[in-house]
Amino acid sequence: MRLGILTGGGDCPGLNAAIRAVVRTGFARGITVLGFRDGWRGVMEGEAFPLTPEDVRGILPRGGTILGTSGTQPSGIEGGPELVRRTIAAQGLDGFVVIGGEGTMGTTAAMPDVPVVGIPKTIDNDIGGTDASIGFWTAAQIATDLIDRLYSTAESHNRVMVCEVMGRSAGWIGITAGLAGAADVILIPEHPFDIELVCERIRGVHSERRSFSIVVVSEGATPVPDTMNLPQYELDENGWPRLGGIGQLVAAEIQGRVRTETRVTTLGHVQRGGSPVAFDRVLATRLGIAAVDEAIAGGWGNLVGLRGHAIETTPLVEIGARASLVPPERFGIPEILCV
Ligand code: F6P
Repeated sequence: MRLGILTGGGDCPGLNAAIRAVVRTGFARGITVLGFRDGWRGVMEGEAFPLTPEDVRGILPRGGTILGTSGTQPSGIEGGPELVRRTIAAQGLDGFVVIGGEGTMGTTAAMPDVPVVGIPKTIDNDIGGTDASIGFWTAAQIATDLIDRLYSTAESHNRVMVCEVMGRSAGWIGITAGLAGAADVILIPEHPFDIELVCERIRGVHSERRSFSIVVVSEGATPVPDTMNLPQYELDENGWPRLGGIGQLVAAEIQGRVRTETRVTTLGHVQRGGSPVAFDRVLATRLGIAAVDEAIAGGWGNLVGLRGHAIETTPLVEIGARASLVPPERFGIPEILCV
């Protein structure tokens, strides 16, 4: 058997652990694993190179991806799926293990004749078919550590600290790091916020026995229509809005309305960098092993994911409709205002 492997979409901690697991499991089962650079772009260009256990030695704790990544989606490019088919034939591949997020999985679902087993990764944790995607718990930990640091400086200066975290359409990083870091307000994309309610909450916190507060804002959070301006987002090369900036606008509103000095910290790509936490290392390793076994069993077109403590599969065609969002019952967590 010959398997191709690629990483697509934004990088995250844990990708290398998954690549290592696929290569080592493949080797143990007598499978040849071929790497492709920069996601589907490398497949369309037909550049493949063999990967052996020696090639992946020492990469488990390393951030990023040794394969490189891109958001290239063959299904959105004229002739793209045909180039993928050509590479399959030229390299004698039985199929691919694709480590990706929603975009990458969407493209695989749009090429049903291309044999793929999917492994979910994204710090946003918004992909269906798994309780956690590779990278999420590392990003949540990084954000929590940084909120802890903001807490002490907020307290010293009696300031409001607004902390913008990633999370395009799902507020998992915001709600997780916000809870873990004892934030006073958490704003997530799933629920439009009312800036006046946010300010009321901050005034309430300040009138108790302290006069500082922490506000966590997911980059994809939006105000209730006609209550506040939104940043003007440029589009990236794949046509997605390049998010970032809502924290600045929220901070300006808070400073103007609450009349308390307010500062903003945008965590940005630091959330995606560096070494994975133990949970992501183990998850990535388990999913890598499961993906190879799924391919051997002929389970093409499936995503391997974590359900409770078990690894289970979900058809890739169902993933798009099963995006994982923060459920409404979490919006009203006591002491936290996800207005
Ligand atoms: O990986 C998902 C994500 O982190 C989103 O939260 C964010 O909007 C996006 O990636 C930014 O990615 P890039 O700057 O690499 O386009």
